[in-house]
Amino acid sequence: MRMRGLAALSGAIWIAAVVIVVVVSSASTAIVLLLGVLGLLLIATLAISLSSVRQGAGMERNLGRRMNKLAKQGKQQAQSAATSAPVPANDPKIDSLVRREVDRSFKQLEALQNLYSIIDIRHALPASRGWPASPDLLLMLVDLIDRHRPKVVVECGSGLSTLCFALAMRRFGIDGRVIALEHLETYAEETRELLRRHGVDDIAEVRYAPLEPVRIGEVAVDWYAGEAWQDITDVELFFVDGPPSALSPHSRYPSVPFFLDRLPSGAHIVLDDYRRAKEQDVVKRWQAENPDRLTVETVPLEKGAALIRVS
Ligand SMILES: C[S@@+](CC[C@H](N)C(=O)[O-])C[C@H]1O[C@@H](n2cnc3c(N)ncnc32)[C@H](O)[C@@H]1O
Repeated sequence: MRMRGLAALSGAIWIAAVVIVVVVSSASTAIVLLLGVLGLLLIATLAISLSSVRQGAGMERNLGRRMNKLAKQGKQQAQSAATSAPVPANDPKIDSLVRREVDRSFKQLEALQNLYSIIDIRHALPASRGWPASPDLLLMLVDLIDRHRPKVVVECGSGLSTLCFALAMRRFGIDGRVIALEHLETYAEETRELLRRHGVDDIAEVRYAPLEPVRIGEVAVDWYAGEAWQDITDVELFFVDGPPSALSPHSRYPSVPFFLDRLPSGAHIVLDDYRRAKEQDVVKRWQAENPDRLTVETVPLEKGAALIRVS
């Protein structure tokens, strides 16, 4: 609107100026018309130019406003993503968990590689870790066999460990035997098949020993049927990895009361899963009942182990 008013005012001034020039200088009609047309053209050009400049400035202002708005929206979205995300990417807790897990896995791989280079494996093995012993514990047990050369190895709970013991006995040329007690027939047969496949069923045997109720002092619990183990003596390495603690917090307690008299001085007892409170409690009872015969060492393995020396 302001632009149109300015153009009209300029036009009026121009016409007035032309009329004054004509009256004062008595110029011809043609010159007067020419001056009039030129003046109007000039005013129109001026008006169009001013209007374009104004439009450009307006567009620039609008663009600036839109950009500001977009920047503000982006910032708000980024802020809300940061506050509503459940776990920010650089959370130190996640970092330390990942680091710990990588470290744990590396230790198990290292132990497994070391174990496989010691015992001679010619056929497929079942997975370790989880229900079976972890590689770090299997390595420790095979190392005990290497250093102490036990003639009789007994374990509560059969599986991969039974095979590793038998392969270790063969590898170190020990003229001895391995006996595993197993309360589940299917696992007993699976382990027997594993021993046959690896050609060590002449070194290790799995005895099916269903659980039966026993009472030792105030502890009443189910343990391996006596007829499966009554004849065993001179056990130099005793590995306690069953029955499962899920059955009772005292599941593994009877092993020492029933076997200590069958273990000579210098023998070793190894208890798996010693990180668990149940197993720690069981060892406290064993120690309290046999303070002069048992020396307990905690081994910081993945699942924890108690290494107990018998004197
Ligand atoms: C801790 S496992 C013994 C593992 C064995 N000493 C080893 O290291 O391979 C104790 C008992 O759990 C049972 N068991 C083994 N694997 C199992 C599985 N995947 N699910 C349920 N019970 C299992 C068997 O009866 C076994 O005697």
